[in-house]
Amino acid sequence: MKLVKLLANLGYGSRKQVQLMFREGRVTDADGEVLYADDLLAHEAIRVDGEPLDPPHGLTLLLHKPRGYTCSTKDKGRLIYDLLPPRYRERSPLLSSVGRLDRDTSGMLLMTDDGALLHRIVSPKSRLDKAYEVTLAEDLRGDETARFASGTLLLESDDKPLLPAELLVQSPRQAQLVLHEGRYHQARRMFAAVGNHVQALHRSRIGGLSLGDLGEGQWRTLDAGDLDTLFNVP
Ligand code: URA
Repeated sequence: MKLVKLLANLGYGSRKQVQLMFREGRVTDADGEVLYADDLLAHEAIRVDGEPLDPPHGLTLLLHKPRGYTCSTKDKGRLIYDLLPPRYRERSPLLSSVGRLDRDTSGMLLMTDDGALLHRIVSPKSRLDKAYEVTLAEDLRGDETARFASGTLLLESDDKPLLPAELLVQSPRQAQLVLHEGRYHQARRMFAAVGNHVQALHRSRIGGLSLGDLGEGQWRTLDAGDLDTLFNVP
């Protein structure tokens, strides 16, 4: 790919802005030799202002989303993209979140610019379950685990019952919920259906992958080994 297109796709600016960067001599090789817009060069050999280029297409990352951030490119308020380098929101193809977490949900969020990978992650065939740590406003009654596991729970305005889900009660107002599908506001609506209210919701695991020691608001890129871990489900 020509360098102008490559840099524009990585979010360094519009084609016009990137062309100006070339004219200003800001794009060089590793030895500081100025490059030209039509040059063809290996990604890792290119520097902008002396810095290596952002990762190429095929970027997948794990973000520890804090509460209060929206999974969108252009909503009001704080966005997940505010937690990443500013160029990442301008990339083409877009670096998009794999599914969404509600604004008030924290925890694991995968983001990728690889459409095939995104489909593989969300495909039911991959059987990637998701674990949520739930804090409730009211004490659990005791029948929730059985109702969630029944496969017959029908949420308001849905036409199909939910797949069986596992609830592990840790204390009267604390539980882990494992879901095998991803319906709109699913965890919150499930607890509303059994007369409770979710006070705090945190996604702690997707498939075989957990947050590890990634702090709130932090992110890291995923490599092939991480993806193996993600898809490695019993
Ligand atoms: N269930 C919800 O209610 N919200 C989320 O963000 C994820 C699962």
